[in-house]
Amino acid sequence: MTEISAHRVAGKKAFITGAAGGLGAAIARMLARHGALVFLTDIDEGGVRAVAASINAERGCNVAWAAPQNVREEERWQAVLAEADAAMGGLSVLVNNAGIGALGGVESLTPKEWARVMGVNVDAVYLGCKYALPLLKQHQPAAIINISSLAAFKADPDYSVYNTSKAAVAALSKSIAVDCARQRVDVRCNSIHPAFIRTGIVEPFFEQLGEQEALRKLTRGIPMKRLGEVDDVAWAALYLASDESRYVTAAEIRVDGGASAV
Ligand SMILES: NC(=O)c1ccc[n+]([C@@H]2O[C@H](COP(=O)([O-])OP(=O)(O)OC[C@H]3O[C@@H](n4cnc5c(N)ncnc54)[C@H](O)[C@@H]3O)[C@@H](O)[C@H]2O)c1
Repeated sequence: MTEISAHRVAGKKAFITGAAGGLGAAIARMLARHGALVFLTDIDEGGVRAVAASINAERGCNVAWAAPQNVREEERWQAVLAEADAAMGGLSVLVNNAGIGALGGVESLTPKEWARVMGVNVDAVYLGCKYALPLLKQHQPAAIINISSLAAFKADPDYSVYNTSKAAVAALSKSIAVDCARQRVDVRCNSIHPAFIRTGIVEPFFEQLGEQEALRKLTRGIPMKRLGEVDDVAWAALYLASDESRYVTAAEIRVDGGASAV
């Protein structure tokens, strides 16, 4: 890592949801490694506190904070953003990363399962953006990064609600981006669309199918014929959080080994 790259997001104050593991933890580590202060939340309080502690240990100083948050709760959003604002002395990056999946077509999914996934994957992104925007506007240039998915573009009969939720995140991100630009505020908003990365959300495939069959199925539609790694997504988030991407807004950044092209 060069001297310059160590400061790509120096001075940035980032809030990351779903940061107890997987992509959220990797994004938090990447931003902290490159100079940002990071505030991590997750429904898994023990997990998210452990990630923040390990970042502080790695950096050798206090650059990470953690708090419990269920992203579906509107009042908690307001409280935890105020906590982050106070801890870091502002907010300039919001990463809406927390997300869940559910298998099933529309005939088999119950309305309750549908609402659960839409609540975490879509409603929570709306709430996060809604309550973070006033803070982000105070710390321009600022950035919102919403973690969508390859599933926003590619349908799977078993992913009906996941497909729908991730397409909604992409559309919402573009709407916010254009709204901010129209208001002449320097808050950019982009979505990232990963293909399969081996985290908690895809682990059930490996449990159900076994290592070889899961790998075969998951990489079938990927020209690069391999899964992604958490840092492949974290590097994209670092670029979008930094001022290097200052003319990039309303973009759908695909981190998918070429999968959305075929
Ligand atoms: N791993 C992949 O293959 C992949 C591909 C495309 C998109 N994504 C998206 O990336 C994001 C991160 O997923 P991941 O792969 O790291 O999976 P993960 O399951 O490892 O992480 C998701 C995190 O979100 C947290 N979470 C779940 N519900 C929550 C709630 N209501 N409130 C707060 N936190 C909650 C979980 O505790 C967990 O720590 C998700 O939005 C997911 O849809 C993942």
